[in-house]
Amino acid sequence: MCGIIAYLGQKNGVPIVLKGLKRLEYRGYDSAGIALKQENNLKTIKAKGKIEQLKALINGENSNIVIGHTRWATHGEPNHINAHPHTSEGIAIVHNGIIENHASLRKELEHKYNYKFQSQTDSEVIAHLIDFFYDGDFEDAFRKMLTKIDGAFGIVALHKNHNQMICARKGSPLVLGIGENETFVASDPSPFLDHTKNVVYLDEKQMVIINPDSYQIKDFNGYNLEKEVEKISYGIESIQKQGYKHFMLKEINEQNETIKNCFRGKIKDIEMVSIKKENFQRIVLVACGTSYYAALVGKYIIEKTTHLPVLVEHASEFRYRQPMLYPTDLVVAISQSGETADTLEAIRLAKKIGCSTAGMVNVTGSSIAKECGQGIYLHAGPEIGVASTKAFTSQIIALNMLNLYINKDPYYKMKVIEEIKKLPDQIKSLLENQNIKPIAEKYRNAKYFLFMARDINYPVAMEGALKLKEISYIPAEGYPAGEMKHGPIALIDSEVPSVFIVTKDSIFPKVISNMEEVKSRKGKIICICDEINEEIQRLADDIIVVPQVKWEFTPIVNVIPMQLIAYHIADMNGKNVDQPKNLAKSCTVE
Ligand code: F6R
Repeated sequence: MCGIIAYLGQKNGVPIVLKGLKRLEYRGYDSAGIALKQENNLKTIKAKGKIEQLKALINGENSNIVIGHTRWATHGEPNHINAHPHTSEGIAIVHNGIIENHASLRKELEHKYNYKFQSQTDSEVIAHLIDFFYDGDFEDAFRKMLTKIDGAFGIVALHKNHNQMICARKGSPLVLGIGENETFVASDPSPFLDHTKNVVYLDEKQMVIINPDSYQIKDFNGYNLEKEVEKISYGIESIQKQGYKHFMLKEINEQNETIKNCFRGKIKDIEMVSIKKENFQRIVLVACGTSYYAALVGKYIIEKTTHLPVLVEHASEFRYRQPMLYPTDLVVAISQSGETADTLEAIRLAKKIGCSTAGMVNVTGSSIAKECGQGIYLHAGPEIGVASTKAFTSQIIALNMLNLYINKDPYYKMKVIEEIKKLPDQIKSLLENQNIKPIAEKYRNAKYFLFMARDINYPVAMEGALKLKEISYIPAEGYPAGEMKHGPIALIDSEVPSVFIVTKDSIFPKVISNMEEVKSRKGKIICICDEINEEIQRLADDIIVVPQVKWEFTPIVNVIPMQLIAYHIADMNGKNVDQPKNLAKSCTVE
């Protein structure tokens, strides 16, 4: 939700910030802007639409202090006026998050102090508040502004009279990039990765004063803090398309490697050392979207093989009801970005109740990872396509790791480890031998899709439907195959394709019966199976064969064809695959 990149150094920061904004576009892409300092003046350039629109307005501007922002609208429609940076007298700010008390602050500033607001955003109050408190000391005015605002924020501010950038973080991520005589601030390291891999992740309620030759991290009371400089482990190639047409396609094709990276090194030590597994009686998994579907897969695995009760919760619902939590619960947050506001708050709630918490997070140093303090990093590398793909399959590996950690049966553990090691090659062969494009071509104009499966693959059916609707805008629903007759069967006709997952296991005959029900109503059937038999041949219009893997890993091989169906349909229908409309990668607002 919104991306920030700022530069202070000796080079012209304008092209650096514009390139950085392009990399951050996945976080929001409805409008963008920059502000730059020239002598004792600030210049602001903003545009509705993508970074390309903003670039078209740049006319040889040059400055070594520049802030930039790409927006995902919350307050105020996406237009030129509501785009960031927002300004007050000699001040420019960019903001990611939501200022919850903006309405009362705005009223006070307008009516009592005659401030004129330009935009409908919550963010503009930040600039006016800094101006209100400013008496020559930028840092002091910035800190006073912080005492007035409630909500979530990552902020970077400039003042025309100071060769400084001042930033603060509460609830929305900010990371410093420490280069040679140059400092970057951004929502994540991707926009400055070709300049430096040395980073400092800001923690909650920390601010930074960046000067041309130094930076100082402080708490909100102004006390100096020392923080370790960390090194980013991945290279620039992981944030480039590397010859693929889209990031999503690249990320789908990386899954044999990303899965390996997730389990490598964790088989013996799964980074959960500080949780005493004997102590917890129940696992509560909290997550949103695709991560929630991964959590549901985890429930099937842990309950069936380890017999520990698992509760799966939409983080956004969990927070606002009265969850029945006990200090003997282990609450695990699952999140690709590590920044999803609802998931973060769910973990905070669990901590308040005294539960043990852990994270399964992809982004190192993210808010959820920090808040949980322990857990499993997915190590899937940056996921830039807005639709989550490789993070989902890595989350399933991580959930298996958690299961191995708590399971007491040495034979079971040995068997899972044996099978997990085979997976990367099996996925590689699935990716290399798949032929899904013609199937996508055949159904690309369908008005509606159903995805159906049973047991551990039922959440995968929901994930398949989510992938299709979010990037192709074709309505789609994921359903337990056995539930179809209780309602969705009314939708079946010769125009509606149903994607069935049919794995050769104990409920195989039941799924076949559900396929019969669709067939007898003239529905089209796309069957994802790990073995073709006569019944499948008779019933299915199209068949996709996936490798035979252990039950726990079937969601991984079954989701890949669904990811590809969604990808190809969206691409063939001319949709923006990596940046679907209305979505953003990291939901830092509730
Ligand atoms: C769908 C998708 C979203 C995310 C959800 C949670 O493709 O990407 O549904 O899964 O917004 O995000 P994280 O996992 O970052 O907490």
